[in-house]
Amino acid sequence: MEPVRELILCREFGDGANRVSLTLHREDFSDLYPGMIRFTLSVLSNKKTRAVFRTNTYEYSPLVPLKAETVALKTAEDWEDQLRTNPALFFQDHWPETPRHTRASSPDVVVIQGSPRGDGNCGILAGWAMETAHEFDKTIRVIYPHDMSIHCCIGCYQCYNTGSCVFDDDMDEIIDAIRGTSLFIICSPVYTNTVTGGLKLVIDRCQAYHAERVIYGGKQGQKGLLFSVAGRKGEVNFTCVTRVITAFLRNLDIEPSGEILIDHVDAVKDIRTIPGLKRNVREKVISLLNNPS
Ligand SMILES: Cc1cc2nc3c(=O)[nH]c(=O)nc-3n(C[C@H](O)[C@H](O)[C@H](O)COP(=O)(O)O)c2cc1C
Repeated sequence: MEPVRELILCREFGDGANRVSLTLHREDFSDLYPGMIRFTLSVLSNKKTRAVFRTNTYEYSPLVPLKAETVALKTAEDWEDQLRTNPALFFQDHWPETPRHTRASSPDVVVIQGSPRGDGNCGILAGWAMETAHEFDKTIRVIYPHDMSIHCCIGCYQCYNTGSCVFDDDMDEIIDAIRGTSLFIICSPVYTNTVTGGLKLVIDRCQAYHAERVIYGGKQGQKGLLFSVAGRKGEVNFTCVTRVITAFLRNLDIEPSGEILIDHVDAVKDIRTIPGLKRNVREKVISLLNNPS
């Protein structure tokens, strides 16, 4: 999705090698979220971006008496004053943004093991997926969100300014892994009819990865697979989990490509005793490893 981009302010200062320009662009992201407008204020010299400030209309919650456009124009005014009066001081304080999304390569398969019990049934499912990937010489990374430091999403919408989250925590390495993988497997027990808390943290914080994809684009053709276990009997116990995971994958442009849902686990206790289950899991993983897009 390409937002409509409009130049709403342009000022030039100095000349020759010292020439500096200040621009303010308005981008319309209404196709993504109703009324979302992003303003980008940039200072350029020698064709290099020297400072950037971004703000968008979704950052300002109902009780905040500010508007993104007013903030952008006021900041432009302040920067203009500083550039006219003391450009050297201005450049001491403003740094061009360094996007975080250019790091590490991703494994072929990424598994989120969403149970806080590393040695529980989701752990067994993750282990089977790992074994299968290794057999096919694929690289795999299993992520245990409950062992990581992940702040909850605070709904600041600043990720739609830069494509990165304002928090610098273990979520970066999770997004690094998801970014380039071919197969994304999510294992979750049903907790109070939905996914576990640790997994929900990851899901909500992946909004920053959604923003990154909207702004910079991303890998296409990634596949997603869900393995879930429920203590109670009946498929109805997975209604919420399947909806949450489908919405999560679609939000990241990852194609939901299958699920294995195992109920009645409170009675079964150990899913290794379910005949044919390991084979089903293997076959599902193999079918997706063999069909890269
Ligand atoms: C806090 C909590 C909430 C749970 N809520 C549900 C539920 O709503 N429905 C259900 O069928 N099972 C529920 N269970 C049972 C788990 O889904 C079941 O024990 C599962 O096998 C745990 O997976 P694990 O072995 O991978 O940790 C809950 C368990 C816990 C600890």
